[in-house]
Amino acid sequence: MEAIAIFFKVTLPSYFESLPIPETFGGLLQLTGADWLRMVPLVGTLGAVIVLTVMQIRRGKCSGNGQVNQSVEKDKAKVVHAFDIEDLGDKEAFCRCWRSKTFPKCDGSHVGHNKATGDNVGPLCLSRKSASS
Ligand code: FES
Repeated sequence: MEAIAIFFKVTLPSYFESLPIPETFGGLLQLTGADWLRMVPLVGTLGAVIVLTVMQIRRGKCSGNGQVNQSVEKDKAKVVHAFDIEDLGDKEAFCRCWRSKTFPKCDGSHVGHNKATGDNVGPLCLSRKSASS
């Protein structure tokens, strides 16, 4: 614990004090190669934090915990729906985004999902050709 305390109370503050951070953006042009080298740990750490944060945000937006199904019949080991093709109407749209409140039928929720995530999912649309056509 003492090593951690020394790192945060002594080493880190003296590192920051030693950084040649200029007062103005124009001052960046005055920095030498050695000055830039001293800032590599700081810039590298900030860059890594930014990249990891963006990756985490994107992962959370896209799939939460990695599961496609976020809310449909979560008490079951597997979600299966079966329809007799004779019972389907002339047109039916089935959800493929797993966000529909009327799952397995599409209720248009894919529009909001696509807008929020940049995804491009849509329903499976079935239609029966009429006997006369
Ligand atoms: S609501 Fe899921 S595809 Fe339309």
